[in-house]
Parts: sequence; C-alpha cells; structure tokens
Amino acid sequence: MTDCIMKKLSLLFISIVTFSVAFCQNDNTDVAIIPQPVKLVKNTGYFILPSNILIQADASPALEATIASLTTHLTVPTGYRAYVNTTKGIPVAVRLILNKMADNTLGDEGYHLVVTQKQVTVTANKPTGIFYGLQTFYQLLPKDIESNTLVQHIQWQAPCVEITDYPRFGWRGLMFDVSRHFYTKQQVEDFIDQMVKYKYNLLHMHLTDDEGWRIEIKSLPRLTSDDATKRVHKEGYFGTFSPPTPDEPRTEGGFYTQDDIREMVQYAKDRFVNIMPEIDIPGHSLSAIVAYPELSCTAGADKYHIISGEPFMDWPGPKGRIDNTLCPANEKVYPFLDKVFTEVAQLFPFEYIHIGGDECAKNFWEQSDAIKALMQKEGLKTQEEVQSYFEKRVEKIIESKGKKVIGWDEILEGGLAPDAAVMSWRGIDGGIQAAKMGHEVVMSPTTFAYLDYMQGDPIIEPHVYATLRLKKTYEFEPVPEGVDPKFIKGGQANIWTEQMFNMRHLEYMTWPRALAIAECVWSPKASKNWDNFESRVEKQFGRFDAAEVKYARAMFDPSFAVTKDANGKLSITLTNEVDGLDTYYSFDNSFPDNFYPKYTQPLTPPKDAVMLKVVTYRGKKQVGREIAMPISELQKRADHKGDDE
Ligand code: ACM
Repeated sequence: MTDCIMKKLSLLFISIVTFSVAFCQNDNTDVAIIPQPVKLVKNTGYFILPSNILIQADASPALEATIASLTTHLTVPTGYRAYVNTTKGIPVAVRLILNKMADNTLGDEGYHLVVTQKQVTVTANKPTGIFYGLQTFYQLLPKDIESNTLVQHIQWQAPCVEITDYPRFGWRGLMFDVSRHFYTKQQVEDFIDQMVKYKYNLLHMHLTDDEGWRIEIKSLPRLTSDDATKRVHKEGYFGTFSPPTPDEPRTEGGFYTQDDIREMVQYAKDRFVNIMPEIDIPGHSLSAIVAYPELSCTAGADKYHIISGEPFMDWPGPKGRIDNTLCPANEKVYPFLDKVFTEVAQLFPFEYIHIGGDECAKNFWEQSDAIKALMQKEGLKTQEEVQSYFEKRVEKIIESKGKKVIGWDEILEGGLAPDAAVMSWRGIDGGIQAAKMGHEVVMSPTTFAYLDYMQGDPIIEPHVYATLRLKKTYEFEPVPEGVDPKFIKGGQANIWTEQMFNMRHLEYMTWPRALAIAECVWSPKASKNWDNFESRVEKQFGRFDAAEVKYARAMFDPSFAVTKDANGKLSITLTNEVDGLDTYYSFDNSFPDNFYPKYTQPLTPPKDAVMLKVVTYRGKKQVGREIAMPISELQKRADHKGDDE
C-alpha cells in the first residue's frame, strides 16, 4: 500500500468514526432516562406502538395492578386499545417475563428491557423489576405519554434499546410531612404515582407533630378530635403568625381513618412502595398532649391547643415556650404508646416504625420533679440520657409488635437503643457514628436532601431559612468514606411542609430535586455526571408538563454573590449552575432580554441605580425567570457578609 492510499484510508476511517460518534450522539438525544440505568445500549430503529396493543404477561397476582396501569398508560393519551392475551406464539407488543431461574445481577428490583422494532420485552426476577422496567419504557416514549387526556398527531414510538438495570440501594425514600399541612388520601396517592416514575420505593409519612395528629387510633379517640387535628387557617410566613384568637374558627386540618390508611398502603403496595409511618415522640408531640394532657410533665397542659404557625419554640435550642413533649417519667405515657403502636403496627406492613426523636426540648424536663426523681432512680445524668431511657422503652414496645425501630439521629444522644436504625439528618455525622456502632443507617442530610429549603435566591423563592440548589442536591452521596456500605440502607429526601400550603407548591418544591436524589440512590456512583443529568432533567420537564405536575425551573436562575470594597463599591458575581446559558441584565428598571448587556464579569451598579434585573437565555430562548434584585438588598448582603467574616 502506498503512503498516499494509507493516508486516504486513515482519513476515511477518521471521518467514519467521527460521523458515527456524531450520529450516535444525535440519535441518543431521545433517550434521557432518570435515574440513569446501569447499562444502556442504543440500537438503530424504533418500536412503533400499534393501535391494538397486545400485552402478554407471566401469571402473578402481584402483576395485576402493574398490567392495569400499563394499559391505562398506553391507552389514555394515545386513544389506542390494549388487550391482555395469553395465547402462546402470537406476536405481541409488550411481553412481561418473570424469570424461572433468578438472574443474580438483577436482584429483586432489577430488570432487562429490550425494545426492538417488533416488541418490548421486560424480564425480571420479581414483579417489582417488571414494574421498574415499564417505568423506564414509558420514559422512552414521547413525553405526551404522561398526559391524562387524549393527545393527537403524535408518532407513539420508542427507540430500540437494550437495558440492564438494578438499584444501588434498597431504601429509596421520600418523606412526606402530612402534619404541618394536611394532605388528603387522594393527594398522597397522586404523590405515590409521581415518585414511582423515578423508582422510589419508600414513602415515609410524618403522621404526627405539634400541628396535628393525622392517624385514627381507635382505642384513643381524642387523638383525632377536632382539638388535636384542626387549627386556624393562616397564610404568610409560618412561624411568625399571630396566636389564634378565641373567636377564630379551627377549620384547617384533618386525619386519615384506618380505612384511608389501609387504602393508601394497598395503593402503594400495588406500585411496589412501602409506607413507613412516623409517630414523632417524645418532642413534637403537642397534638397528643392537647388530646391527653395527662401525658405531659407540666401542669397546665390542658390549656394548650395545636399551633397554627405561631412561634412556640426558640432557636438555637430547641427551647420550648410551651411543653410539647411526652413525659418520660410519667408511667401513663407507656401504655398510651403501647396502644398507639399496636394499631400502627397492624395498619402498616412495613418492617420499620419511625419514632421521630428529633428536636426534643428539655427545658421543661429540667424543671420537672418527676423527671428529677426518674433520673435519681435510674442513675441518669443528663436530659439526653432521659430521652435515651424513653427511646429504649419505646423500642421494647415496638419490638413486641414485631417491628423494628428507626429514629432521627438525636436518638444517638444519651445512648442508642440496642437495635435501632438511625436516620441521619443533621448532616452525615450521626449516620457515620451509628454505622460504626454496627447500626443500620438511612442518610437524609439537610445538606443535600431537605426539599423544604429554597431552590434559588430568596429574592424570588418563598422564604425558608436555608437554600439547597439542584446541583448541590445531585452531590448527595449516601455512603461516607470509611464507612462499611453494608450498614447504609440507602437515602431519602424530606419534604417538610410548614411552608407548603398546597399540593401544587409541594410539587414545585419536590421536582426536580427529587430527580437528583432518585439518581443518587438508584444509579451507580461511577455514572454520576451533572451536565448529563441536567440535560436529562430538561427532558423530564416536558413530561411534568404533560402530566400537569408542577416543578421548579430555578436551576436556570443565577446565584448572586456580592462583596463590598473599602470605598463601599459593590461587586456582584452571577453564577449559573447550568452550562451554556447567557445572563442579561439591566440597572435601569426595564426588563432585560437577549438584546441587553450580557453578563461577562462582576458588575458594579451605576451610581443611583436602585434595581438589578437579570434573566437567562439559551441562545434566543428565555429559560430563567426574570429576577429583580434591589441594590439595597445587595448592600445588606455585602454588609452582612462583612459581619460574618
Ligand atoms: C428534622 O428535620 N427535624 C428531622
């Protein structure tokens, strides 16, 4: 071969490689699955959904609800018909196969999904895996497959792929606080529908708190009296409301009957979700105290009412202005809890009951003669040891019902109950400590997993005391260095609802950050890639739109940082967490667009400017929200920063 031919051939080879890489990247843009599957091979061609969809599935009672939801999913938006057909040997569109011999790579929740031009096949060891394989398949179809109404003029097709997928962790949770604001059974079930699309398998229901007791306990009827479940409706900034006056009606709230609970548990089970109940004790117990004041250490508890958002705890502390705790020295408390946990254990099949344990104010205990006597009798030296004494007795009660205990990381203080699992929320240190003691741990640290925190700048988000942006959420890593992974059961994000007054806002706070957590607890650590994840999130937005689920676009908004020099001159830095955005700004109060000055370096406001307005674009398309930032606010932040340093 001559040199010239060699050169020509290698040029041809380079251009073929370049072409095929470019082609693959382009072609791959219609595959944007969250959480990222373990292994995905994209083949050429598409499966086109036929208007008469034949489904064939191996027989299993646990698959019945899955097939019903598959049928709904494929027929409602398309207007097509689906039939389940058991005749062997006929061509079917969707085939669901349960392995006769377990494939060890897949475990209980994994699946193989093969989409060819002719058929979609999901193979799994267990019905759970089939269910997850179908969730992935839905994400391969056009976004309008998520619509609850007929959508016309769509080519209902999915790219041909071969996927092998299984979760990194068995505990993939979301905590839903239904106490601070009550959400109906229907809303909880809608939420379950949303979470399973991203392969969450655990709904932690925070059923009791100071603001309301939300679960019927038949042997303790006062727990679901209006006094313990209803409060004055308030709007504004929770925690600052004026105390209710006697003439204000207590109309807001509610509770779940035991039938409601059974229905929610079944609804979740049909979607391979466990519901874990939380009864938050001994702190956060005002609603129980209101119903049964004799459970308090403090005289006068019969005057309490559940709070409507008025301040009643002081921070740092926690220091109670009123006593919202169950009294560990009061022997009436333990039979009360025995009754509660007997019924809770019967209602929820999940193996764990969450006993709270967080933020228990001890200032009333310090004053209590009964607590002092208990400390002397039991040799308890600190109030933390008093709480630990309580937790250990509670653990015995719960274990007597055949259940295991999990609690927030405060249950470590004063000595952890022998078999308790720990949910680490004040960072990851509690989780590390518990795992090193050989206890099971679920990670849900504020730093990455608190979805009640603001997702963008406080100037545009409803105010909460802290911020957690999407990119930071995506950095969540449940297994800390130096910890044996076998003790880390998984992770979850927590949705506290003090500031979530309605379901639409709850959705806004949940998505897309819960997409990030879903990927952190399902996908292999090595596949984590922010830019790639972020581009898949943008694709999911179309699905949320089709499903009419609200979500935040805060990831498109810049972060503001500001400093002040010795002459009082401000320097404002804008940072975008999404690549490829341009930020335009104005100082003249008018509305910036892509014809305005583009941000390229830190800004100093012109003399007398009162407002900085910013907006982000991708090319010619506005993607961020317009943010109006008063210069006076930036001055304040710069001054405050100076104070901190
Ligand atoms: C918590 O956030 N108090 C567990």
